[in-house]
Amino acid sequence: MTKPILKAAALAFAVFGLIAVPAIAQEEGAIKHRQTVMKSIGGHMGAMAGILKGQANYPDGLKIHSRAIADLAKVAAYLFPKGSDFGETQAKEEIWSKPEDFKKVVQVFQVESAKLAKIAEGGDIKAFEAQMKAMGTDACGACHKTFREKKK
Ligand code: HEC
Repeated sequence: MTKPILKAAALAFAVFGLIAVPAIAQEEGAIKHRQTVMKSIGGHMGAMAGILKGQANYPDGLKIHSRAIADLAKVAAYLFPKGSDFGETQAKEEIWSKPEDFKKVVQVFQVESAKLAKIAEGGDIKAFEAQMKAMGTDACGACHKTFREKKK
């Protein structure tokens, strides 16, 4: 019966450990986290492209991956907390200095990704490909162009 107690102690330690880290480390965490989520979004895009190319075929693949992107688009606005604008990041200062512009492109992303997920439900592959392209340009591309620094 000591195991659960040990687990609880370890958890408490972890939680207090988290609280004790300085603000800087938390901001670095926010950067890492958003890059991880962005990578996931990119991964789902790649997975859909693979399915369309016939690299894989499993039930509901396009539905699953497009739904995942639409869900992740809902958290996009939370990935850029104040203070996470320095260090190992390609996020541009404009995200915080032009919050209204940034908000707009996040909304475009949410609308376009929801549209893609809806088309996936219907199963029209041609329409799906067209919408995937549109989202890639009008959401991913548009935001990256304005708000993401090119890799040095
Ligand atoms: C609202 C703006 C916005 C939208 C929309 C957006 N991104 Fe990003 N993305 C960014 C920013 C900013 C970064 C840089 C993050 C950083 O370095 O902290 C980024 C980084 C990335 C990265 C690199 C992650 C890494 O560090 O390895 C990938 C991959 C990516 N995005 C894919 C996508 C795809 C695919 C879409 C569309 C389905 C998309 N993004 C939509 C803003 C956006």
